[in-house]
Amino acid sequence: MRKKIAAANWKMNTTLPEAKALLQAISGQQPNLSEEKIAVFGIPFPYLLTASEALAGKPHHFIAAQNCSEHKSGAYTGETSVAMLASVGVQFVILGHSERREYQQEGNALLAAKTNAVLVAGLTPIFCCGEPLAIREAGTENAFVQQQLEESLFHLTAEEIQKLVIAYEPIWAIGTGKTASSQQAQDMHAHLRSVLAGKYGADVAANISILYGGSVKGSNAVELFSQPDVDGGLVGGASLNAEEFLQIMNAL
Ligand code: PGA
Repeated sequence: MRKKIAAANWKMNTTLPEAKALLQAISGQQPNLSEEKIAVFGIPFPYLLTASEALAGKPHHFIAAQNCSEHKSGAYTGETSVAMLASVGVQFVILGHSERREYQQEGNALLAAKTNAVLVAGLTPIFCCGEPLAIREAGTENAFVQQQLEESLFHLTAEEIQKLVIAYEPIWAIGTGKTASSQQAQDMHAHLRSVLAGKYGADVAANISILYGGSVKGSNAVELFSQPDVDGGLVGGASLNAEEFLQIMNAL
């Protein structure tokens, strides 16, 4: 089922006391969530267990990791397996964020392997894609993002791809305060859905949530989320502020 999702990406922010306080400030409220409108919290690794305990019993609140290993287990010092994540209550894994693509050199083939690992474990990948400014200025963003999907996801079956969430995050809009206009977001989301429909059929494509990310705030969430192909947001900076994120959750 295609859901509306407010996904927080805390990135490498907060200490444990700050993380606890932020979760408490958010979970103490009564956001307008349901089976079809959910919140996902992308928490730093050391606090995942704390977060899943803090949100236990809060309906429609889920925990995400921000990365995982493509390997099942074994001699991979410093890595975190999907089984480890599942065992502490994680249900979603953010994959292929542009910061990981840039600073950890994660490419489309590696992300295909990570996507498989997450799906095999029964968790949900939040697969990020998006173009840099130079590509947008050259007017080739549709082809660029399409290739990210094709090379990382198109080996999946129709049944598997419907388990994914896709997040479109134009790199020029991340952390810059420069949001894509709601029309730019809608245009790319419609393109991605038509690319998915071309490969898997319109019914499958209609079942996949496509989130927008890049300077989403309480003040622009309603307009972005009201676009027909924008099914919510992946939110960095504004997710570190309880009031802002609550506004975003309520904008779903
Ligand atoms: P931002 O980050 O909301 O701070 O732009 C979004 C993201 O990187 O996921």
